[in-house]
Amino acid sequence: MCGIVGYIGSKNATSVILTGLKRLEYRGYDSAGIALANGSLTVCKKAGKVVELEKAVKAAQLRGTLGIGHTRWATHGAPNDVNAHPHTDMENTIALVHNGIIENYAAIKQRLQKQGYVFRSETDTEVLTMFIHSFYTKTKNLEEAVRLALCEVEGAFGIAVVSTLEPNVLIGARRGSPLLVGVGEGENFLASDASAILQHTRNVIYLQDDEMAILTKDGYTTKTIDNETTDSIIHEVEFDLESIEKGGFDHFMLKEIHEQPRTFKDCFRGRLLASEGTVRLGGLNPVLDKLRRAQRIIFTACGTSWHSALVGEYIIEQLAGIPVEVEYASEFRYRNPVITPDDVVIAISQSGETADTLAAIKEAKLKGATAIGLVNVVGSSIARETDAGIYLHAGPEIGVASTKAFTSQLAAIMLVALYLGRTRRLSQRDGMEIAQAIERVPEQIQAILDHSSQIQSIAKKYAKAQNFLYLGRGYHFPVALEGALKLKEISYIHAEGYPAAEMKHGPIALIDENMPVVCIATQDEIYDKVLSNIQEVRARNGKIIAIATEGDTRIAEFAEHVITIPNTLPMLTPVLSVIPLQLLAYYVAVERGCNVDMPRNLAKSVTVE
Ligand code: F6R
Repeated sequence: MCGIVGYIGSKNATSVILTGLKRLEYRGYDSAGIALANGSLTVCKKAGKVVELEKAVKAAQLRGTLGIGHTRWATHGAPNDVNAHPHTDMENTIALVHNGIIENYAAIKQRLQKQGYVFRSETDTEVLTMFIHSFYTKTKNLEEAVRLALCEVEGAFGIAVVSTLEPNVLIGARRGSPLLVGVGEGENFLASDASAILQHTRNVIYLQDDEMAILTKDGYTTKTIDNETTDSIIHEVEFDLESIEKGGFDHFMLKEIHEQPRTFKDCFRGRLLASEGTVRLGGLNPVLDKLRRAQRIIFTACGTSWHSALVGEYIIEQLAGIPVEVEYASEFRYRNPVITPDDVVIAISQSGETADTLAAIKEAKLKGATAIGLVNVVGSSIARETDAGIYLHAGPEIGVASTKAFTSQLAAIMLVALYLGRTRRLSQRDGMEIAQAIERVPEQIQAILDHSSQIQSIAKKYAKAQNFLYLGRGYHFPVALEGALKLKEISYIHAEGYPAAEMKHGPIALIDENMPVVCIATQDEIYDKVLSNIQEVRARNGKIIAIATEGDTRIAEFAEHVITIPNTLPMLTPVLSVIPLQLLAYYVAVERGCNVDMPRNLAKSVTVE
């Protein structure tokens, strides 16, 4: 949510920053801006996507070797040119870009207004800029001014700041919102994620909360905002440029859907010990004892990650017999939940930066629970805040609608469930059967992808529908929720996911001949029950799109369309049944002319509450 790039070196900062902003655009795309600070401050900002900024920058012929850039997801103030970042002080001395929310901005603004400061925008960021300026007029030292201001700020921030009076310094700081330093040779960078600077350096330092970085062309120092020098560890970024490009696909989302045979496998590779029917999870070593003795597991997550947590509840209770609860992270932290030191709280997050999930984990730890993270982005806040974890290894997910992260989360959950099952009540034979079924999943996903054209033609038929209903039972109820979420977020069609049998308690009233109803009806022990639910829809003229098991000869009689998926163990079917739903949402959105990778109002990585 909001992308930040900063550059200090000898290259043309404008092109480094613009390229970086394009890579970060998935984090927010309401407006974008750039400021260069060599001699004087030149600022260019535009409502809309980075391409609009690029045109304006070209026309203005911006040049310089020190600068900052930003792509915005609006929190305070409408997405227009004025509210776009960077913000400057009244004298145009300093420029600042910001990701996060300054919670006490109103009080600070009042203070500054009394001192004569005049504000042009509605943003909390302009307040922070002026606040830093108010210290700068006294200290004449940017680093000190930033530090003093941040000591009084409440809320979340990732910032980059430059001053015309100090053309050899670039300053960054963070609390809550991610920010890293890219370490180059004769140049250094700031970025809210590594993809922005990957073509220049793979060496990064992930800043900690309340840590600042002071960069020059040839070096850097890091310190806390309390002025204590910190030791910074340089990490090497593992993914490559190819993984953040579209690779011949029309959209990142489609590319990421098609990556799933590999990404699912990458999650269990080296961890699944098929011949022993168990798993080795090195990342959980520090907490294995606690996990084995857990009285209860609580999953906490948001959005798609919350849906995978729901699948996790069913699987862990089934395999290990441990009570599992699933909590929306945003609810969990504010409802004073009962947590004990015998609980293990598992946060699931693709980005590892979701503010609510991060806060939920902090809350759980305060109450004595053990915290585990199932996270995709290496070095992210949730990965660092948890006691132990499993990285998903799905590679960067750029499409705003989460796809490959979901199936990788299911893979990670399967591993945890299998581990717990084997330590409790699952025989080696059963463990081996599950492990072998997991190993077959990648080729089964591929088999579904190979039939994408069928789903594309179904999508064409229903692209003008105003509503969709998704029904599933058991393991497929969370998949129904996920299918509906995918459709609504990228095509703007209203969609609801429901437990199939619950439908008759209300939503059935919505069904008529215009309602497409996607029913997940694979051949498991509740297959017949789901068929009855399908008949209830048919009786009201709803149009059934069934997701069924290959070889099912009965279902065609009840459905307008049947999309088949290969047979697997019931607990693994969500990984397969979700694939057609991702494709259906994708093709419907394309058919409606929607911007699939950048749906309106959304942003990847929600770093505000
Ligand atoms: C939906 C989607 C969101 C995220 C949610 C949590 O396609 O992407 O619902 O799943 O914002 O994000 P993470 O997993 O990064 O914590």
